[in-house]
Amino acid sequence: MMLALIYDVIIHISYYMGGYILEKLIITGMTPLKGEVSISGAKNAAVAILPATLLINGICTIENLPNISDVKLYCDILETLGAKITWLSTHEITVDTRNITSIKAPLDTTRKFRASYYLIGSLLGRCKEAQVGIPGGCNLGNRPIDQHIKGFEALGATVEVAAGDIRAKAKNLVGASIYMDVVSVGATINIMLASVLAEGTTIIDNAAKEPHIVDLANFLNTMGADIRGAGTDMIKIKGVKELKGNATYSIVPDQIEAGTFMCAAIASKGDIIINNCITKHLESIIAKIEEIGGNVDANGDHLRVWYTKRPTKANIKTLPYPGFPTDLQPQMGVVLATAQGTSIINESIWESRFQYTSELNNMGAKITAQGKTAIFEGVDCLIGAPVTATDLRAGAALIIAGISAKGRTEVYNLSHIDRGYENIEEKFRKLGAKIERVKE
Ligand code: EPU
Repeated sequence: MMLALIYDVIIHISYYMGGYILEKLIITGMTPLKGEVSISGAKNAAVAILPATLLINGICTIENLPNISDVKLYCDILETLGAKITWLSTHEITVDTRNITSIKAPLDTTRKFRASYYLIGSLLGRCKEAQVGIPGGCNLGNRPIDQHIKGFEALGATVEVAAGDIRAKAKNLVGASIYMDVVSVGATINIMLASVLAEGTTIIDNAAKEPHIVDLANFLNTMGADIRGAGTDMIKIKGVKELKGNATYSIVPDQIEAGTFMCAAIASKGDIIINNCITKHLESIIAKIEEIGGNVDANGDHLRVWYTKRPTKANIKTLPYPGFPTDLQPQMGVVLATAQGTSIINESIWESRFQYTSELNNMGAKITAQGKTAIFEGVDCLIGAPVTATDLRAGAALIIAGISAKGRTEVYNLSHIDRGYENIEEKFRKLGAKIERVKE
């Protein structure tokens, strides 16, 4: 009894220190995946829509929320700011934001993930003031927020970054024309959030076009905003007096999760059907999988992906949507690690997104990564080994590697994976993978 209590305390301490450091996945590989999998709501849409509820002076219902730790963190933060959250099921909540009582987001929680910086845009929009801890998240190299700040300042706010937090304040927010110097998902979202209730019209030029940008705009419009052009590189936001809410919104399926299973199907020599996805969002990955000799049959909201022959080499350059997504680069890297010939991946978004390659090399891959380029000399097969997830997508890649490899793989540092994938091992297990999560 006493031992169980001590164990429980250790688990909780490790969770609050930033991860389930006492858990690992054990995978016995060489299992071709077979069967059907259903895709959850998009993480990167959910973590934008949750803070957007702060702009509503009313109640809204959100459906198809992914059951991941970033969503739980966000709900906790919203509650500390005065929102009332009711869980209707594991994937559905109502959020009552009529009574927001604080502009200060809890610093310890906001530091745990990247998307906490959307609280700056939404609190600024709602309360004209925000104080948020410097955001954390995956270590992918330098992650500047100059474009976010440029946008807030253009709307009339003053922004101070000091002593571990970001403070933004405005007497009035007034619409402006803002040209993004780099295409940034986060800055596009943050400026949308800050400008929905501003006076006049805001134009975001050179905006990001990712499906989650469109999803956020659809959510805000459903709640009463006036946003046009989301999904193109020019977004026009006409400020409205109030968002009344009183509506229900369902989050778009996660195109990165769908792409992860597509890579897993090919790497494991499998044949799977992926349900509940928007195949239009997957065009760049479908094209790449077909280019290397994989088979894809896409039909609106589902697709079949199957292996018939060893993939051939390919070159990939990650780009903003609709280009090949950086968030699928490590998963595709696993496929190329055993492809015929030498492939090159050029990572143009993040400077440190090749950390997974040394883990794959521990499994017998032959990858040389330098700066933003990695060269993959295809080997016949990967060999199971203990590996560590260095970030969220690296973690997904290592699971795919473990399922495809000969022998036993252990994947450590699961907190990264749990931030963004719902029941990942259960979904893989249903497809036939031999994978289990164990506490050490
Ligand atoms: N950038 C700047 N200045 C800024 C903002 C960005 O120079 O003010 C640069 C970045 O350094 C990067 C590029 O612009 O080189 C793109 O960054 P972006 O702002 O688009 O990235 P983000 O908003 O921080 C989101 C996703 C990431 C995904 C990127 C790119 C969320 C919560 N995160 O990050 O997702 O990799 O867009 O698509 O939406 C993941 O899900 O694993 C993940 C890391």
